[in-house]
Amino acid sequence: MHFQLQFGVDLFFWAFLQSTTEEYRWMALLKVTQVTAQTRVSCAHSSLSFLIGTTNPIHQSGHTGSLWDGSFAGPGNDDAIIDFAWRALHMTTVAAKSITTEFYHRPYTKSYFMGCSTGGRQGIKAMSAFPEDYDGLILGSPANPFGQLMPWQAKQGHQVHPVGSARWIPQDTWKLIHAEALRQCDMIDGVQDGIISDPLACDFHPETLKCQLNADPSTCLTSKQLDALRDLYAPYHLGPDNQTYVFSPFVPGGEYAYPQGLVGDTPFQMPGDYYRYFVLNDTTWQDEQLDEAVVTMGIDLNPGQMDTYSPDLTAFFARGGKILQYAGWDDELVSTGHSNKWFEDVTAHTIAHSDLDPNDHFHIESVNRAGPLSDLTKLGNGAWAFGGVLGRHFGGPTVTDEAPYDIQTAIVNWLEFDREVTHLVAAKYRDDDEHSGGMRIAFTRKLCPVGVSLL
Ligand SMILES: *[C@@H]1O[C@H](CO)[C@@H](O)[C@H](O)[C@H]1NC(C)=O
Ligand SMILES: *[C@@H]1O[C@H](CO)[C@@H](O)[C@H](O)[C@H]1NC(C)=O
Repeated sequence: MHFQLQFGVDLFFWAFLQSTTEEYRWMALLKVTQVTAQTRVSCAHSSLSFLIGTTNPIHQSGHTGSLWDGSFAGPGNDDAIIDFAWRALHMTTVAAKSITTEFYHRPYTKSYFMGCSTGGRQGIKAMSAFPEDYDGLILGSPANPFGQLMPWQAKQGHQVHPVGSARWIPQDTWKLIHAEALRQCDMIDGVQDGIISDPLACDFHPETLKCQLNADPSTCLTSKQLDALRDLYAPYHLGPDNQTYVFSPFVPGGEYAYPQGLVGDTPFQMPGDYYRYFVLNDTTWQDEQLDEAVVTMGIDLNPGQMDTYSPDLTAFFARGGKILQYAGWDDELVSTGHSNKWFEDVTAHTIAHSDLDPNDHFHIESVNRAGPLSDLTKLGNGAWAFGGVLGRHFGGPTVTDEAPYDIQTAIVNWLEFDREVTHLVAAKYRDDDEHSGGMRIAFTRKLCPVGVSLL
């Protein structure tokens, strides 16, 4: 029997409205008890038997706020912030483990965690602060460090907003940009398939789309739009000489997804709410007021310890802990580069401060479509069903329950049977619908660990 806690994208920001820890504890117990009462809950599409706890009491209690509404956090609702940041996960874990043991009259053998977006962020906290909470973790696109991600999300929006301004890029123009990115970079991997397998190898020059005199503006980009695009695809820095790195940029290839997130018709709600309710505690503050001083203040304040960016996982690794992490290049809300940076930082720290081999404990894969969230009718061309959180929640089952097609099986094999994960294989379904016709699988694709070039 395994204990697994799933904290998925659909739980993001629906966090914990309870004002006291005591109340929260009660609700977490209630939720876990309900799950336990149904005895063994099998993960969809998985033959592995897991007992699943989830931390989503508000969803249970019928809260209907927007997914990105941060007003639960304040002003000054310290307990809610801490719960959302990390405490809810830890307490649910402790409670669920004790209930599991009670229910089965024996202790669990291994505990697993799977989470995406803010779930990925919380998984990192679990490993660094409570290394005994989990043995194996599957982390998708961690929304981390929050204090740097939030201003980056706001900054991306500011590059093009408001709608109709000189820098505004309409939806149809994004289609032009995507076609041009593919024209320039699709063939780098040797296959013309509408997928830029390694966007970092793509030296994208959108200037080729610059409007000539008297051109129809729907067929090209103005120099202001090209300026905006250049900033969207450049790393975000702060400081007098732009020396302080804040967050990684968009990469070429995800242009069908980006306007579904930060650069769409309406400014993304979350960063503004973060400053209003978590950082400044000023409900009248407007998104346009974001400046370097506020960004720095948010990073320094780190309310509730929202940032979980610790490179020190040595205690977790020393217990034999394993991580499989994935991130999607075309992620429209959390750019992938920062996942890779965290992986590199953990690797360097582990080598410098222990005798442990980080490769025995941590693998990270890049996917051409992984989430965390988007208009799912507009998925890209990449293969993305491999048992990650997005696939499990939104109808992208694994091809089989076996590794390398199923990331859950892969981590269990690695942790319990010493079968190392060399790669995963993701599926693409026709029309992104597992039910469409007889030939439902369009193709499968190997996902490469970061650092292993496809080329
Ligand atoms: C706003 O409230 C949060 C939660 O109580 C706190 O962590 C933060 O420091 C406050 N911000 C300011 C500027 O006082
Ligand atoms: C820093 O970056 C901003 C935004 O890209 C730019 O406008 C500014 O000129 C840069 N400053 C320096 C000193 O390079």
